[in-house]
Amino acid sequence: MERKEFLRTLGAGAAFAVVFPCVQGCTKGPDLQTEPIPTGVDFTIDLSGPDGDALANNGDFIVRDFVVIARNLSGVFVAASRVCSHQQTPEVSFVASQGGIFQCSTHGSQFAQDGTPINNITTNPLKIFQTELNGDLLRIFE
Ligand code: FES
Repeated sequence: MERKEFLRTLGAGAAFAVVFPCVQGCTKGPDLQTEPIPTGVDFTIDLSGPDGDALANNGDFIVRDFVVIARNLSGVFVAASRVCSHQQTPEVSFVASQGGIFQCSTHGSQFAQDGTPINNITTNPLKIFQTELNGDLLRIFE
């Protein structure tokens, strides 16, 4: 079934909710904790210690200084802002079960590993950081 046809079968109200999911649910409320998107990121973690244990398996991730550091499903280290590009809540995680994407739990924004939005919650790309592995030392930087 084509997208247009699918939306037509839902009816106008439901189609609007599918196409514009943030109209009702994404207003910034007083309870929404926000943070600035990290800048000037440049730090190193030692994979010979507990961080290495936490990142031992493909799909694992840790959070450090508002940065999500993940071992993707190919075993490559990737890093992204913990602070979402939608409304700046620090709720982005790495989700292995969906093929290895970044996802924010606040309103459900999903991002490819290069930061490209992959659903229609936001059009703002997620900030991505570079990684460099030297022995057991993993550098995360801009
Ligand atoms: S703040 Fe809305 S999806 Fe992340």
